[in-house]
Amino acid sequence: MDTQEPDGTPVYLDPDRPVPERVADLLSRMTVPEKVGQMLQLDARGDYEGDILRKHVGSILHTSPSRLERAHDLVEQTRLRIPLLVGEDCIHGHSFFEGATIFPTQLGMAATWDPALVEQAARITAVEASATGVHWTFSPVLCIARDLRWGRVDETFGEDPYLIGELASAMVRGYQGNGLADPTAILATAKHFAGYSETQGGRDASEADISRRKLRSWFLPPFERVAKEGCATFMLGYQSMDGVPITINDWLLNDVLRGEWGYTGTLITDWDNVGRMVWEQKVQPDHAHAAAAAVRAGNDMVMTTPQFFEGAQEAIDAGLLAESDLDRAVARILTLKFELGLFENPRRPTLARDGALIGCADHAAVNLEVARRSLVLLRNTGGTLPLAGGFTTRDDDGRAAGAGADRPRRVAVVGPLADAAQEQLGDWAGSSGQADWLPDGHPRDMITTVLDGLRDLTPQDWTVTSALGAEIVSLVTPPEGDTLPDGQPRPKIAVPRDPDPELVAEAVARAQEADYVVAVVGDQVELVGEYKSTATLELVGGQVALLDALAATGTPLVVVVMASKPLVLPRSALNADALLWVANPGMRGGQAIAELLLGLIEPSGRLPISFARHAGQQPVYYNQIRGQHGSRYADLTQEPAFVFGQGLSYGTVEYSGLEVLGTEVTHEDTVRARVTLTNTGTRPVRETVQVYVSDSVTSVSWADKELKAYRQVDVAPGRTVAVDLDLPVADCTIVDREGRRVVEPGSFELLVGRSSRDADLLRAPFTVLPR
Ligand code: NOJ
Repeated sequence: MDTQEPDGTPVYLDPDRPVPERVADLLSRMTVPEKVGQMLQLDARGDYEGDILRKHVGSILHTSPSRLERAHDLVEQTRLRIPLLVGEDCIHGHSFFEGATIFPTQLGMAATWDPALVEQAARITAVEASATGVHWTFSPVLCIARDLRWGRVDETFGEDPYLIGELASAMVRGYQGNGLADPTAILATAKHFAGYSETQGGRDASEADISRRKLRSWFLPPFERVAKEGCATFMLGYQSMDGVPITINDWLLNDVLRGEWGYTGTLITDWDNVGRMVWEQKVQPDHAHAAAAAVRAGNDMVMTTPQFFEGAQEAIDAGLLAESDLDRAVARILTLKFELGLFENPRRPTLARDGALIGCADHAAVNLEVARRSLVLLRNTGGTLPLAGGFTTRDDDGRAAGAGADRPRRVAVVGPLADAAQEQLGDWAGSSGQADWLPDGHPRDMITTVLDGLRDLTPQDWTVTSALGAEIVSLVTPPEGDTLPDGQPRPKIAVPRDPDPELVAEAVARAQEADYVVAVVGDQVELVGEYKSTATLELVGGQVALLDALAATGTPLVVVVMASKPLVLPRSALNADALLWVANPGMRGGQAIAELLLGLIEPSGRLPISFARHAGQQPVYYNQIRGQHGSRYADLTQEPAFVFGQGLSYGTVEYSGLEVLGTEVTHEDTVRARVTLTNTGTRPVRETVQVYVSDSVTSVSWADKELKAYRQVDVAPGRTVAVDLDLPVADCTIVDREGRRVVEPGSFELLVGRSSRDADLLRAPFTVLPR
């Protein structure tokens, strides 16, 4: 029964009433079409007027700034004036708002291993997004990246569940700020629940062949953590597992998420998951059945399945669904809207007041710091870097000055990504393809490329030259046409360019004239993203020919691999004088890279994901399950080219004296250990001290080692520091054959060092006593 105040105001409009009363009142006033519409989130690039006025949609996404005010105005014309939830993929910054701060991709952020920095980036994103009227970001991604061919590795925090949990938790805190009443808070989304990344052959959204025990062992823990920490929403993956699409996976959604974890947040499908059950997976005969199944499984909001509007109503008419089945989902969405205070203030853009914050200098400074910390130095022979021995100070123009500037040098900056401003931002940014209102991407003057960075920062009397050297791909319309069955644009096919002898010759000429050549190679957005998994992992187009030719010049060669994900690198890169990997590093990336090459900053990033030597070695993640014949292929080692946790500094830190203090522990104890770090070099080092655990004998097969903790420690040249490490015994778990997470008593080893590679780890035993 709808109710009203003595003055006739409906109860749902009274902010002094408790939220459950307001929800019940509003629900009782809603018709079936209004309820079904409330469950819909539709693409505002389409007929959003009709969607709001006739389909009563509860939410919109991909709303260009010019359309957003109008969308709110349209709501004012509706019968109940239920405010809209405005969603957007603000996944490494406010991606599609021109001039917003675009950070390194999530994989780049992961290379910092720094939750506090990641939280700051998310906070800035929330401040900028909320000022433009966005309430909800579809971030962070908690998928585990294992098959490197998958097109969305860049969106993940890499391969390790513990690191993913640490960073995802930080990101959720950053987005949600001080709680939903905070006007700068935006709703976070843990996605894509769960197992989406475990593809077949890297093919996007294919069936994930994944057992419940495997899910519980590695794929679910990061999600469990953010569910329990209050991440407001969860997005359900596209794929099916064991024949059941996640959208209707009763076990995952109800037994585990709602049941075991007690999650009370809101569930949203991914793009047209409900429709895909009909046209793609073909497990539902029509939209009525698909809608009924999705509602019954517990979905709250249905993203971009316009046919859900008719389908759900037909399902009710046909008796597949009762009207009351809608109420649980609608109540949850309304609760979110009441908690955000949208009925009192729909949180329209506050650009007149807060516009100056967007892309402001303070945000750019944090962005620069994230970019600096995301850079991973993989090779540096004979002190090639920093260039000219390195600089420690800057002149009044900010250029490198002091030691190192003994004589002018010439640097050739070559390669297809040396000056590719929009490419540098990666996927989900500006002109990357998802939004049609920024065809030219983000403002060029907000982005520093590597060429810009070196031109701006090298000493005045140095010479910086450039050449393209190679191209990566050209684009061809797919034979199936430009549009996907659901109306989205179908990505073009990326055809590798042939090496161009003239381009190579020009780059070689620049290299021959120079003291150093910096080659910036990698991938580009046409090889990255949804529908854009790659069959190969090699550098594409003319890039290998370019690197080979540059290596042959004998000029010291610094290879900067600016790639969305780990690539398989040619010998000329693996044997280069120096090698740096950088994920798409965001707007300040070129400055950060130039600072690192000149020694104005110290390299401190560590790989959040392993690099294969060959696509056929996959998967190469470090925490593999024990037990196989031998340890190599007949024709190749199994060792990755670069391992999880790896990364060099300019200084050298030695680890010694690992000691477990109290080697017999109970289940309730904390393992306390100490290790000594000595900086034997001449430069300060920020060391990431990694703590792995190995359970000597397990009742079921298990990973030989797993990251359980880490600490970032600054060690000055010549200094020795003792680092204390704490590890709760309760974290030394495996998942047993019944799928329970347990600590099995017996002998363990603590492994501490600079990377996950055995040779880099000190080992010390401890014993967990029986209960
Ligand atoms: C599909 C993607 O899988 C998801 O990550 C994204 O949030 C939605 N599209 C909305 O753009």
